Amino acid sequence: MVTPEDKLCRPNFHFTPKHGWMNDPNGMFFLNGKYHLYFQYYPKDNIWGPMHWGHAVSKDLVTWAEQPIALYPDDLGYIFSGSAVVDKNNTSGFGKEGKTPIVAIFTYHNAQAEKEGKIDYQTQGIAYSLDEGQTWTKYTNNPVLKNPRIKDFRDPKVIWDQQHQQWLMALATYEKTLFYSSKNLKDWKYLSSFGEDLGNHDGVWECPDFFPLKVENTNETKWVLLQSINPGHINGGSGTQYFVGDFDGERFFIDKTFKNQLEKNEAVWLDYGRDNYAGVTWSNIPESDGRKLFIGWISNWEYAQVVPTETWRSAMTIPRELKLKKFNNEFIITSQPVNEFNQFKTKEIKKENIVFSKDFNLIEGKNIDINKSIIEVELSNLKSDIYTFTLSNNLDEKLKFGINNKTLNYFIDRSKSGNLSFSDKFANTVSKANFNHLKSKIKVEIVIDKTSVEIFYNEGETVMTEIFFPTEPFENLSISTKNNSETLLKTLIVSQIKTSK
Ligand code: FRU
Repeated sequence: MVTPEDKLCRPNFHFTPKHGWMNDPNGMFFLNGKYHLYFQYYPKDNIWGPMHWGHAVSKDLVTWAEQPIALYPDDLGYIFSGSAVVDKNNTSGFGKEGKTPIVAIFTYHNAQAEKEGKIDYQTQGIAYSLDEGQTWTKYTNNPVLKNPRIKDFRDPKVIWDQQHQQWLMALATYEKTLFYSSKNLKDWKYLSSFGEDLGNHDGVWECPDFFPLKVENTNETKWVLLQSINPGHINGGSGTQYFVGDFDGERFFIDKTFKNQLEKNEAVWLDYGRDNYAGVTWSNIPESDGRKLFIGWISNWEYAQVVPTETWRSAMTIPRELKLKKFNNEFIITSQPVNEFNQFKTKEIKKENIVFSKDFNLIEGKNIDINKSIIEVELSNLKSDIYTFTLSNNLDEKLKFGINNKTLNYFIDRSKSGNLSFSDKFANTVSKANFNHLKSKIKVEIVIDKTSVEIFYNEGETVMTEIFFPTEPFENLSISTKNNSETLLKTLIVSQIKTSK
């Protein structure tokens, strides 16, 4: 049954659990044509509680089918965030009768021990599945990584490190990332730590992801560390910073170029909007595909537990492809919607070479539902002016975002976007992402799905993701300039995303 709340708020193509509370994406892997997504889940309430791993599956990264709960809390604790790998060579020995084991590596959070004031209440455990991730058996000798008396000691992200022929784990502690290696996913050896004196430290480091990535259009490969932190994000609350460097099998060294970037800006963020947290990448994507696929939690701990949905709380971002690019002597991780979305584009509006000044309505008439759409805009002839996209409804609620070529930043302003009463932290600031030089032309890709917008500037060079809660659906999208400067709308493509809902 579609409830009024679902109708107004539940996204069309972003994953949401049917009921209950969800936070971080966990344990994503690809196998036999299916993308698996697990997630921090509390089925009994719409706020955070004893953590389980929920589960969803997709064949196309656009439509998701929720599955039975994968992991339940037990005597060792709640099941916090972690990862999963396909153990093709059965290094773990969990495989039986030729069945390949999938091994999940997660944090046990012992709430009782925490209450008693102990500090070693987080340990790492493993579980395996012999039926492609549907059912799981926890390892009898858990935990596989005991707590070395560190209070925040969690969120193991394991990859197969092809170059150094080892399982490699990145683990977050309060102010740094620790690396461990293993031959069998059961015995872990400490390698090194990273980051104590680098990047942002205004909160707790959580949910790392560490992997090699080719620098686009070169033969060079660099290692990338995604490192979520809460709070500390440049626009408030939870966010994900990253680091680029080299890894010798034991230690991660920051790249010189990237170090210079950190000297200019304390941290580099994967997403400058306030709602993309704890994101990590899929394992076991076939080499023939070769993409680095990412998904994040589209919320922020500053208000996640009070947003105005009752049946369920939170969605994921759309899956994105990450690329590492080097230009103007800077490393940048770009994010773009996965190209699977192209197969779901149905109706289209296309326009070309229109000059506008002041206002221009991007979506005319009611033949496209803006609440499940992807909008691609190319603008040129931009001046030192403010270019504002406005998503609005008949109640005059509006979400504003765009390009400020005067103060040199992209922005999102949700201060008039509808229901704000649930938290005074939700719309207390205008989110901004600075740039260095006036933009004379720009490409913008905008993904709209009822209660969220994901904005990808210049092929995902800068990304801003935010949620909002209008009290009636948004219907219109326009663009306006402040000083009536003549702007060329080079192309406009509005695509409707086909969903079953
Ligand atoms: C991040 C996080 C993780 C932890 C999980 C608990 O949002 O705090 O560090 O494993 O959520 O649900």
